[in-house]
Amino acid sequence: MKVTPTSNSRISDIDFSNLQFGRIFSDHMLEMTYKDGTWSEPDIKPYGPITVEPSLHALHYGQAIFEGMKAYYAGPGTINLFRLDDHHERLNNSAKRLCMPELSSDNFIRGLEELIKLDHQWVPKTFGHALYLRPFMFASEHYIAAKASSEYKFFIITSPVAAYYSEGFNPVKLTTSEKFVRAVRGGTGEAKAAGNYAGSFLPARDARENGFTQVLWLDALEQKYVEEVGTMNIFFLIDDKLVTPKLAGTVLPGITRRSVTALAKEWGTDVEERRISIDEIFEAHNNGSLKEVFGAGTAAVISPVGLIHHKGETITLNQNEIGPFAKKMFDRLTGIQYGKTEDTFDWTHPV
Ligand code: COI
Repeated sequence: MKVTPTSNSRISDIDFSNLQFGRIFSDHMLEMTYKDGTWSEPDIKPYGPITVEPSLHALHYGQAIFEGMKAYYAGPGTINLFRLDDHHERLNNSAKRLCMPELSSDNFIRGLEELIKLDHQWVPKTFGHALYLRPFMFASEHYIAAKASSEYKFFIITSPVAAYYSEGFNPVKLTTSEKFVRAVRGGTGEAKAAGNYAGSFLPARDARENGFTQVLWLDALEQKYVEEVGTMNIFFLIDDKLVTPKLAGTVLPGITRRSVTALAKEWGTDVEERRISIDEIFEAHNNGSLKEVFGAGTAAVISPVGLIHHKGETITLNQNEIGPFAKKMFDRLTGIQYGKTEDTFDWTHPV
């Protein structure tokens, strides 16, 4: 591994009390190149522009994937990474689906550790804030034949962030889309492929223009079963059962989703991963059994849902307030991440 620290840190220009999601980037980045069938060693160097030609393969065909992770300040001298192996595994699963080369766990984990150590001052100290880590890979051949590239770049860039939604921990408003779908079985929906997000921007803009925070995606075939939200997985507390759409090829296998189900089981809550229709949700609301709805994701953390709109009908959840289950989940999950409560699952990786 090669490490070239900057001689010109930008950290003193950053207003850590006024962070937006993903706007500013720390001093360093990690770069690796795949050529002739092998990855180069990680090269950690000052964050800055990269030079590409207009024929860059990824720009034409979107052969590009990413991960979303966070580094959490856990007291003097400790920064926690979270479920590193799971993120590495998901990155490689996305790579396989997009016909891209996998990355060794050694390069991924050692590279991230070195990068975080070098930029440790960029990890915000305020609880709820974090250094967002964005590993990503793209096809880097300068070649516009419509087939998999033979060259790739892998980068990790990092960005100090506050809450993802402008609502903070206040409930978000979701709407289904009658016109668009996110993923079909056999497609790329379960990979963290850049193109999945590109396709969601138009429906998300429509949703925002109508006063909603994000789209609640339904299945592509029947437009009946709930799948996920724009940037998070979704959970429904029905009576005392926690229900979440099962992973059947179209839903992103969220690491926070997996953590939420594990924590709920730890408390003795029944967890059902199954198909759940939008009609069932409206019925459960109408008969009083729908207690809470919340989303879960790395960027979104635990995000209470206050309202769902579907085909002209709207339900308001939990008086548009944070429910006790979502609050307890937020406290337990962030407690582990920020090193405030015991990590009984061995999820954290101190750097
Ligand atoms: C994450 O939660 O890390 C994500 O990747 C969502 C992102 C599109 C903001």
